[in-house]
Amino acid sequence: MILVTGGCGFIGSAFILDWLAQDREPVLNLDLLTYAGHPGNLQALQSHSGYRFVRGDIGDQALLAALLREHRPRAIVHLAAESHVDRSIAGPDPFIQTNVVGTTRLLQAAHGHWSRLPPAEAAAFRFLNVSTDEVFGSLGADDPAFSETHPYRPNSPYSASKASADHFARAWCHTFGLPVITTNCSNNYGPRQFPEKLIPLVIHHALAGRPLPVYGDGLQVRDWLHVNDHCSALRTVLDQGRPGETYNIGGRSERTNLEVVHAICRVLDEARPGRRHAELIRHVDDRCGHDRRYAIDDRKIASQLGWKPAVAFEQGIRDTVQWYLANSDWVASIHSGAYRQGAPQSNPARHSA
Ligand code: NAD
Ligand code: DAU
Repeated sequence: MILVTGGCGFIGSAFILDWLAQDREPVLNLDLLTYAGHPGNLQALQSHSGYRFVRGDIGDQALLAALLREHRPRAIVHLAAESHVDRSIAGPDPFIQTNVVGTTRLLQAAHGHWSRLPPAEAAAFRFLNVSTDEVFGSLGADDPAFSETHPYRPNSPYSASKASADHFARAWCHTFGLPVITTNCSNNYGPRQFPEKLIPLVIHHALAGRPLPVYGDGLQVRDWLHVNDHCSALRTVLDQGRPGETYNIGGRSERTNLEVVHAICRVLDEARPGRRHAELIRHVDDRCGHDRRYAIDDRKIASQLGWKPAVAFEQGIRDTVQWYLANSDWVASIHSGAYRQGAPQSNPARHSA
């Protein structure tokens, strides 16, 4: 089986659904269910024989040791994190606790587990550390895209915490031999993204006829990666990636924030005629320390592992808007707080922690 951390979040839930749809090994999902964890994301797996859920903290050493001893995963896909830049500016402590301390605890526990495996299992074991392109800092308009050798220059408390986690992951590989692989990907989009992030927030505001807040001049550039493409890249790296290596993952879709917001508005104009949604755009105060541009050079993963993104941004954004239109209950449950009520606890029959 594999252990996935943060599986109730945006990318984690897509990864688990995708993994089990491919008839791969069973999954143990360890998630604390913070505000960002939506139990309903994996509702469809409630009675799936290959899915187990444990509510817990990646920083809980006793829990980690018990889970690893009992379930003996052949890989850990580490996605649990505090993930929102604006929240890291408002209050960095949870970012330090989960992204730095939590990741380090997970590395320690993984090392303990891995060092007790028989040689063949130890050789096949992987710790996949899912990181971000934000660790590389900000690019100018004409700078070459981030390659794997680009220096780390994190600018926000979020990216500093992720950079720190990456350094610890690297150290556990270099010093202790733990077979760690790190991936650095660009901005994901798609179904089930928490509506604090640009794309779901804009869709939600536009549908409600509320202003669409664009930070500063809106000409900051991000590379957009459909979450399904990210999941296929993670599977590829898990299957073929070399321990000790890092791989950049991108969507080959650089867009300014204004271009993204206009693209959403165009889809909504068709789907909900009667309003020109772009008229709701409002420029608001910029984010402190706002990175100007991210871009991914994906030649390493393309040439060494044969992976490239499949979803074109125009189609991906159309599908994403349609998903939010068809799943207004999902967003409503977040805004009402109902998604946190009746959140599942661990199933004690299935583990001993
Ligand atoms: P998310 O915020 O949607 O989900 C995070 C999940 O982690 C939630 O389910 C939450 O409950 C869980 N979690 C938080 N703290 C925990 C803890 N201490 N113990 C156990 N579980 C905990 O995040 P996401 O957007 O799905 O991102 C997943 C990973 O991918 C993160 O590591 C993030 O840094 C990275 N990443 C995200 C993007 C993106 O665009 N979303 C891009 C690059 C990298
Ligand atoms: O690049 C990868 C990163 O992408 C991930 O590591 C992070 O976890 C993820 O949250 C995302 O970070 P960003 O800060 O780029 O995403 P966000 O959706 O918050 O913002 C995208 C851009 O849109 C950014 O330039 C800020 C801007 N923005 C955001 C919001 C929420 C606005 O203009 N208005 C908004 O209301």
